[in-house]
Amino acid sequence: MPDKEIIGIASDHAGFELKAALKAELDALGFGVLDLGTDSATRSVDYPDFGRAMADAIKAGKIARGVVVCGTGIGISIAANRHPWIRCALVHDETSARLTRQHNDANVMAVGQRLIGVETAKAALRVFFTTPFDGGRHVQRVAKLTPAS
Ligand code: RB5
Repeated sequence: MPDKEIIGIASDHAGFELKAALKAELDALGFGVLDLGTDSATRSVDYPDFGRAMADAIKAGKIARGVVVCGTGIGISIAANRHPWIRCALVHDETSARLTRQHNDANVMAVGQRLIGVETAKAALRVFFTTPFDGGRHVQRVAKLTPAS
């Protein structure tokens, strides 16, 4: 039996509670989880530090895919997307999770704890991590997302 895939997860304080719920959901789906912090809902931290932690873990090969959470999902998705090997999609529901996998080959899912219900986020997570990239016409478009070095 192949080793189970480890999925990274990171949040700031404003995403801490949803991070905990999504960790449990990943475990229930049979994934391992690498928690990159933060470790408290009450100690204020800066979301860019956790977007960077996700990007660093993927660059280092510790994980291939991940989830980031902040209050809106916006700040931490911007932070993650500063790195050219990251395609982080802010998702709102199962449809956006499915389409960003099929069309964008997103490798990181972002959600906003203050904007999405827990059950909707869990449903989006299940779809995100089980939907393959469509390939085909999307391959050249995804390639154009990465700036030439
Ligand atoms: C923290 O208050 C909040 O600004 C942060 O979690 C996020 O929503 C930023 O985009």
